[in-house]
Amino acid sequence: MPSVEANRGQWDRGYGWPEGGDEWSLGWGGPDAQWHWSLRPRVQRFLPAPSILEIAPGYGRWTKYLLRYCNRYVGVDLAARGIEACRRRFAEAEHAEFHVNDGRSLAMVNDRSIDFAFSFDSLVHVEEDVIGSYLNELARVFTADGVGFIHHSNLAACSPVPRAMRLALRIAERVLGRETPGFDHWRAATMSGERLEKLSASAGLTCIGQEVVNWLGGRLIDCISLVTPRGSRWERPNVVVHNPYFMAEAASIARAAHIHQDPAALPTWPAGGATSQRLGSLSRIGSLPIGPWGFSIVGPWPSRHRR
Ligand SMILES: C[S@@+](CC[C@H](N)C(=O)[O-])C[C@H]1O[C@@H](n2cnc3c(N)ncnc32)[C@H](O)[C@@H]1O
Repeated sequence: MPSVEANRGQWDRGYGWPEGGDEWSLGWGGPDAQWHWSLRPRVQRFLPAPSILEIAPGYGRWTKYLLRYCNRYVGVDLAARGIEACRRRFAEAEHAEFHVNDGRSLAMVNDRSIDFAFSFDSLVHVEEDVIGSYLNELARVFTADGVGFIHHSNLAACSPVPRAMRLALRIAERVLGRETPGFDHWRAATMSGERLEKLSASAGLTCIGQEVVNWLGGRLIDCISLVTPRGSRWERPNVVVHNPYFMAEAASIARAAHIHQDPAALPTWPAGGATSQRLGSLSRIGSLPIGPWGFSIVGPWPSRHRR
């Protein structure tokens, strides 16, 4: 159960940020490829937006792109380390401001001042009390047509991995002499897509779309939810889609990036070659042509880079 305190400890002191967060884009072929081919297509109908709020920017992996689409950007994170890094990294961006918060509120953001709120690869680690609190705050800070793109945990909706498999992983970790993120990737155990929809309604927001996705494996442990105030121009009945191809999409993007992207934007660390692509610290997707057919297989593959 990642608490607010556990998150602060992990991101302020525990984690080393070896590439400023870019290391997590490895499975997509780097942050540029991940933004342009995976994230931007998902948010482009809301951009540009006069005022953007990013919850939990870390070292600013997505801030770099969001800054181009607004007149005012506000980044809020509970870890002072990331906020200081963002202040240094984006010192030239006069329309950007960064704040350390308490991990659940947005006291530094004025009422009715945010047109687009974005959070990716962060709130997956926070439990329902924190998500509920942020949704209440979003209801306060959104303009009438404000909209939020919130990536969160769906672990509460997933069957647990059988004990025998968890035990096997623990033994493998002992043998290899290192820890892995396990099967749950430090996801919040109390959150799910359904839970977010209910919390949004309690906050006075409407959930208008949910993409339930897999993350570094086959289980649909994550969800990307869109929320908006009642009566906003984006309001519609909720649409829920289960997308078990999210990681296949990542591997495809990473492969294509080798050809279609500026080589300078490709990761300098080993991302995978012509026949296989890393999907994170535990797995790899490989493909093999046999006669006229192409086969892909996802399998375990320990690596150096991990959370
Ligand atoms: C895995 S990092 C991701 C950072 C960034 N979104 C990225 O994709 O590179 C998680 C970030 O979430 C922040 N975080 C975790 N819990 C939070 C909370 N309750 N409120 C605000 N920030 C939080 C951490 O401090 C950290 O910067």
